[in-house]
Amino acid sequence: MKIFLDTANLDELTLAASFGVVDGVTTNPSLIAREGRSNEDQIRAITEIIDGDISAEVVSTEAEEMIREGRILAAIHPNVVVKCPLIPEGIKATKALSSEGIRVNVTLCFSATQALLAAKAGAYIISPFMGRLDDISIDGTELIREIVAIYENYDFQTQVLAASIRGPLQVKDVALAGSHIATMPAKVFHQLFKHPLTDIGLEQFLADYRKTLAEVSAG
Ligand code: G3P
Repeated sequence: MKIFLDTANLDELTLAASFGVVDGVTTNPSLIAREGRSNEDQIRAITEIIDGDISAEVVSTEAEEMIREGRILAAIHPNVVVKCPLIPEGIKATKALSSEGIRVNVTLCFSATQALLAAKAGAYIISPFMGRLDDISIDGTELIREIVAIYENYDFQTQVLAASIRGPLQVKDVALAGSHIATMPAKVFHQLFKHPLTDIGLEQFLADYRKTLAEVSAG
């Protein structure tokens, strides 16, 4: 499963990139707004840090305008994936942009039938917001499982990207459900490394080694 960072913050991305296991980035208008720069400037800066798919979202709600915006975003860098919302106009825009060879991530997906429409429109990625479903006590992992199964049934090439992840357990759940990608905030990414027994074990190994070394050098 690919790991994407769900942030537009350059410091968070630089640190996460240093581990060599981050495959891409997702942004949205809320995340871009936090950084205080234009969508284009911030996306351009992100392309200099992460070598992988970088989703940049359109802010229009009419297909024609989304297509115009999508072309501008896609021209920033070959790694840019244009994000369109899963509304009827967004599906129209997805079909048009995909037909031009522009890769589209269809976002704000909350049902399997929405995901079916996105795949039929040629989406490169579908983004089910599984965390927002879990937030309201609807099983988000089940939605990921359903979409993966439907895409496999009909051999759709659209990749499933589990979005709005809140914690490491959801990362494990979507990996088991067969999600192709999971996007997560930097905080969750760093939590993936952690296990108290790893820290305790390492501390003990090093203490044992230092003790023996001291004894050997003491002769
Ligand atoms: O970027 C899409 C999605 O991951 C947003 O998540 O935390 O705003 O529900 P969130």
